[in-house]
Amino acid sequence: MPMKFDTPAGQNPIDQLKVVGRPTDRIDGKYKTTGTAPYAYERHDVAPNPAYGYVLGAGIAKGRVRAIHVEEARRAPGFLTVVTTLDTPRLERGKMNAAYLFGGDEIQHYHQAIAVVVAETFEQARAAAYLIKVDYAPEAGRFDLAAEAKVAQPVPGDSGEGSGGDGVERVGDFEAAFAQAPITLDQTYTTADESHAMMEPHATIAAWEGDRVTLWTSNQMIAWGHGSMAKILGIPKENVRLDSPYVGGGFGGKLFVRADAVLAALAARAAGRPVKVALTRPLIANNTTHRPATIQRVRIGATPDGRITAIAHESTSGNLPDGDPETAVNQTKLLYAGANRLTAMKLAHLDLPEGNAMRAPGEAPGLMVLEVAMDEMAEKLGLDPVEFRIRNDTQVDPNKPGRRFSHRDLVGCLRLGAERFGWAKRNPKPGQVRDGQWLVGHGMAAAFRNNLVVKSGARVRLGRDGVVTVETDMTDIGTGSYTIIAQTAAEMMGVPLERVVARLGDSRFPVSAGSGGQFGGNSSTAGVYAACVRLREAVAQRLGFNANDAQFVDGQVRSGNRTVPLAQAASDGELVAEDAIEFGKLSQEQQQSTFGAHFVEVGVDADTAEVRVRRMLAVCAAGRILNPKSARSQVIGGMTMGTGAALMEELAVDTKRGFFVNHDLAGYEVPVHADIPHQEVIFLDEADPMSSPMKAKGVGELGICGVGAAVANAVYNATGIRVRDYPITLDKLL
Ligand code: MOS
Repeated sequence: MPMKFDTPAGQNPIDQLKVVGRPTDRIDGKYKTTGTAPYAYERHDVAPNPAYGYVLGAGIAKGRVRAIHVEEARRAPGFLTVVTTLDTPRLERGKMNAAYLFGGDEIQHYHQAIAVVVAETFEQARAAAYLIKVDYAPEAGRFDLAAEAKVAQPVPGDSGEGSGGDGVERVGDFEAAFAQAPITLDQTYTTADESHAMMEPHATIAAWEGDRVTLWTSNQMIAWGHGSMAKILGIPKENVRLDSPYVGGGFGGKLFVRADAVLAALAARAAGRPVKVALTRPLIANNTTHRPATIQRVRIGATPDGRITAIAHESTSGNLPDGDPETAVNQTKLLYAGANRLTAMKLAHLDLPEGNAMRAPGEAPGLMVLEVAMDEMAEKLGLDPVEFRIRNDTQVDPNKPGRRFSHRDLVGCLRLGAERFGWAKRNPKPGQVRDGQWLVGHGMAAAFRNNLVVKSGARVRLGRDGVVTVETDMTDIGTGSYTIIAQTAAEMMGVPLERVVARLGDSRFPVSAGSGGQFGGNSSTAGVYAACVRLREAVAQRLGFNANDAQFVDGQVRSGNRTVPLAQAASDGELVAEDAIEFGKLSQEQQQSTFGAHFVEVGVDADTAEVRVRRMLAVCAAGRILNPKSARSQVIGGMTMGTGAALMEELAVDTKRGFFVNHDLAGYEVPVHADIPHQEVIFLDEADPMSSPMKAKGVGELGICGVGAAVANAVYNATGIRVRDYPITLDKLL
């Protein structure tokens, strides 16, 4: 029976904060920085004598494959085998996959995988693949969001009082309140398609032993991938193993299995030996997933003293027929007060590559827009934008009377941020401040992201040597999971961090929450907490202690006047305990969210319109911070990514041929060190007993939420030019 978390957390060993809450260096940090944490493609020890697979992507965006001519490729040096989509029946899709990954003759999007060529070396596989000739029967496709938005279909809402069949969620009477409001704003904004552009491309080594396959891969959600690969390959789950101990970034692009895993498995079966497949950088844009572009309309009505009386947010995005909308209206349901509300989404059919989750899906592009609209509205009201937000704070869910936030200190974030940033010194009139060639501007925005909790399990072992080993299929995608999991076990078992070993990312370990939706840190450590509670019980029993009053400190177990070394409990053999935490009604009864405030200073070159970010500050309220160093890294990573969304990141759509043109890191620009100044992050000191025994919340996505709008608002303050089509590239300012 998993440990059920359905009443607020009381005092527990985590509250000691001897190990948890410390800014500990990442324990995998030295491996990452010395190149000894191998990524999937570099795992030279796991499968001897691997062959290399090269994935060929479709050269059309929509239609059918008539024939694939492989004769010439077969004669190429080093050629071993080839598997084509025409040799393979259309395969099932895995969890969250909207596009089919392989099999059959239908092309749903450009660079869809149509063949994998296997050869002795990567170069030979690539050279052979280039000799393949493909006959296509192309069909007309829909590639232009602006055009297809006109015929987009409503998406049924999932919450709100007046959720009707028209896909519109209503509270009160928005139209009437907006019509009566003395001050109103009605603006439309657009956000671009964006690529995850993670450092490590998708990659997998596959090896079969009889009817069992092992996939050494790069994946955020091991249990999902495990089930998906069994389904796709049509074999029992027991015959599939996934292993993903180190991941070079995911950002949502590796929540699910992609063509590398599927084609490595098929190719290894065909070749009769292990095969490694990496999706080359150009395949990332069009073969995998991206954050969908949006068209968003925001309407706000307020009284002259700045109380919101009516707020509406509508968003249209596109996707393949089985894909989902970008849920850009999410935060508008919960961030500000206002009696009359309307949110709605529409989804257009597009034949572009699959849109899917990317860091803070929904909120990231949603706040990019809402928080610029709030800035525009504050200006209309003649109110300071910080004050406007404070005036419209709410401690209850505006959609559901009586439902409160478990803990909400947005106002605290706004006030502290304004003070530390020196907001009072800002000139509210745009285009006034000069520093040599630079027009200087200041902008701010609120940050908001929901705190999800997901069932998570772990196994802990106490060895004869007193070492505590944690095993869970939780992943560390560069976030610090190894470290906070080890900190949790050290705190619970009363041992120093050096006496804990964390082993992650293997489907043979207990199923965890995985890394997604900023739920991984809080949920997975809570699972480790649950397993450690069981191990403490086992230790107490072995030593003849009462589990309820035994204390675990300094490598010892104490009760009354008895003190025994912890290792003694394992002197007759290793002790093993396993448990999971399951989140009950608490997470439904109260609204759990994370909050923040971003403050940004930019300089805009008065002649060239080059934008330079000069200062950034984030204040975050996200429950207990398990490790301030790794949490800060998450937030500054989010701030960097949000700056990219505001200023440069855009997959350029060829609306005739239907693909993303800038499919590499030369054409798809992301911020580099030179683009980002010193970033300051402050965490409010809080603990949320409603979230888990850890009293922590998610922080991995909060940092990206709102920061792009703070940049855009600063650009407006610098120049007086309000750009509503993101990213704000130079041409839009000239
Ligand atoms: Mo996240 S976009 O759920 O990895």
